[in-house]
Amino acid sequence: MLRAGVIGLGVGEQHILGYRAAGVEVVALCDMSTDKRADAARLYPECKIYETAEELLDADDVDVVSIASYDHHHATQIVRAISRGKHVFSEKPICMNEDELDDIRNALKRNPRVRLSTNTILRMSERFRDIRRRVRAGELGRLYCVEADYNYGRLQKIMTGWRGEIVDYSVMLGGGIHMIDLLIWMVDSPVIEVSAVGNKLCSVGSYFQTPDMVMAWLRFYDGTIGKVGANFGCVYPHFHKIALYGTEGTFENGIGGGVLIRSRDPQAPPQSIKSAYPGMAKGDLIPGFIDTILGKGKAAVEELDVFKTMSACLAIDKSLRTGKPEVVETY
Ligand SMILES: NC(=O)c1ccc[n+]([C@@H]2O[C@H](COP(=O)([O-])OP(=O)(O)OC[C@H]3O[C@@H](n4cnc5c(N)ncnc54)[C@H](O)[C@@H]3O)[C@@H](O)[C@H]2O)c1
Repeated sequence: MLRAGVIGLGVGEQHILGYRAAGVEVVALCDMSTDKRADAARLYPECKIYETAEELLDADDVDVVSIASYDHHHATQIVRAISRGKHVFSEKPICMNEDELDDIRNALKRNPRVRLSTNTILRMSERFRDIRRRVRAGELGRLYCVEADYNYGRLQKIMTGWRGEIVDYSVMLGGGIHMIDLLIWMVDSPVIEVSAVGNKLCSVGSYFQTPDMVMAWLRFYDGTIGKVGANFGCVYPHFHKIALYGTEGTFENGIGGGVLIRSRDPQAPPQSIKSAYPGMAKGDLIPGFIDTILGKGKAAVEELDVFKTMSACLAIDKSLRTGKPEVVETY
C-alpha cells in the first residue's frame, strides 16, 4: 500500500483526488502559507500538515510525493525526493534550466528504482486522445506539419502573481510545454532542432520581466516540421489550439470546436469532432503513474517523455537568448 504526500496546495489539491482515485492514501500535505495549512487541517484531518517541503520529503511514511510548489522550487525538491527513494509526480516544468535537468537525471541514475512523471495533462484530454487514436490508425495519413498554441488568456496572473516574481520565468516552460508535449506525443518522434522569437508587449508596466509571447519552429526527428506558441498576453479564453496536417487529412482544435477534414473537395463539409475538450481533470495522470510504480502498467507520461519535452523547451529558451536555431540536447 503506497502512501502519498503533496507539496503546494493550489493545483496540488487536485492531485489529492488523483491519489484517491488510484486507491492511494494521502498521509501528508505541505504548504508554506499559514492560511493554506489552516484550511488543509480542517479539510484533511487525517493528514499530517507540514510547514516546509524538506520535512515532508524526509518523512519515512511517504512513498510517493506530488510536487506542486512554484516552478523554481521544483528541481531541488525533486532531487531531494529521489535521493530519499520517493517516487515523484511533479507539476510542470520539472525544472528551470539545463543544470537542474542534469541534477534530476543524475539523481534518477543513482536511484534507478524511483519513478518520475509530470503533469503534462493534455495527454488525458478526451479530444486529444481521440485524435491521437485516429492519427495512429492512419486517418490523417502521414503527419508532415503540426502547429500548437497555448493561449493562456490570464494576463493578470503574470502581471500580479508569483509567476512574475520569478526573474527568469519562461512562458514556454510555464505553458508552451503542454503543447510541445502534445505535439511530440501526436507525431511520436522527438523534436531535434528549434528556433524561437519572442516579445513582451502585453505585460508592459508590470514586474513581469521576460517575454510574454514566444513562438518557435520545430524540426522533429522523423522529418515532420512544426510551430508552437506560448501566448500569455492574448485577449482570448484559456485554450489549446492545434492543427495537425497529414497527407490524407487535417485536424484542427479551434475555439469553434474540433474538426477533421479528409477531402480536398472544397464542397465536402468538415467532420465535427464531438469528444470532450478539455475532458479531463488535473489529477487524471496519477492513477496510471501509480500503476507504473506497482509494476501493473505504463504511465501516460514516462520518464523519457518528460526529458524529451523538457529538452525541447529549454532549447527554445536558449534560442531566444542566442537568436539562433538550437539543437535539442539528447536526453
Ligand atoms: N499541469 C497543469 O495544468 C497546471 C495547472 C496549474 C498550475 N500548474 C503548476 O503547478 C504549480 C503550482 O501552481 P498553482 O497554480 O497551484 O499555484 P498557486 O499559487 O495556486 O498554489 C501554489 C501553492 O503552493 C505553495 N507553495 C509554493 N512553493 C512552496 C514551497 N516551496 N513549499 C511549500 N509550499 C509552497 C503556495 O503557498 C501555494 O499555496 C506550478 O508549478 C504551476 O506551473 C500546473
